[in-house]
Amino acid sequence: MRLVFLGPPGAGKGTVSSVINAEKGIPVIVMGDILRKEVAEQTELGKKAHEYMKKGELVPDDIIIGIIEKVLKEGNWNKGFILDGFPRSLRQAQALDEILKSMGLQLDKVVLLDVPEEVAVERLSGRRICPKCGAVYHVKNMPPKVEGKCDKCGAELIQREDDKPEVIRNRFRVYQNAIKPVIEFYMNKGLLVKIKGNRPVEEIVKEILE
Ligand code: AP5
Repeated sequence: MRLVFLGPPGAGKGTVSSVINAEKGIPVIVMGDILRKEVAEQTELGKKAHEYMKKGELVPDDIIIGIIEKVLKEGNWNKGFILDGFPRSLRQAQALDEILKSMGLQLDKVVLLDVPEEVAVERLSGRRICPKCGAVYHVKNMPPKVEGKCDKCGAELIQREDDKPEVIRNRFRVYQNAIKPVIEFYMNKGLLVKIKGNRPVEEIVKEILE
């Protein structure tokens, strides 16, 4: 399956796609992780992207489209893929269509994971991530076995820079402003599937796989 996961910050896109990756072996392309790696390595691209990310703004389309084109064209997608966090604007969605067309591929489904803003804010405020292996936890909903330590690799867990309350609210506003035309674009193509994200992860995964 070639899938796109849309949804507001904190909808659970990353959590659900990593479970599907573990169960089905479908590779996940996480735009946020690609950008955070560039930021951590202080590359030119990372420095530029950081200016937008720390405020919860979208990184400009030209940069994002350049990244996704390179990733898709250089990868092996025999097992399909899940795009998490891309596209987030109509221009990105149209560019994705063109890139896939040039590779002789097309999307199978676009999953819109939706949660109310208050749920997402609570989730993001309690989110902790592993800076080493990328595993995601929540202090209440999905705590690690040992407080503050990653179950998978033992590294010290951290809070994301953009998971501060004021930045979370702005990420929400930015998402609401940009996503409507993307949803319409995929609805018109008959690809959109809406899934309620305010439920246990296993239920969401089951419904998506069905
Ligand atoms: P990105 O990293 O993609 O952030 P986001 O879209 O805001 O999404 P999140 O990663 O915050 O949420 P998620 O839905 O994956 O939730 P998660 O599974 O972690 O992007 C960051 C920034 O990069 C953007 O702001 C922008 O600047 C830039 N960027 C990225 N892509 C871009 C693009 N295409 N164009 C332009 N700029 C771009 O879950 C959240 C928490 O909830 C976790 O703690 C988890 O444990 C918990 N949780 C998850 N599911 C459940 C559940 N069902 N029940 C209870 N708790 C749950």
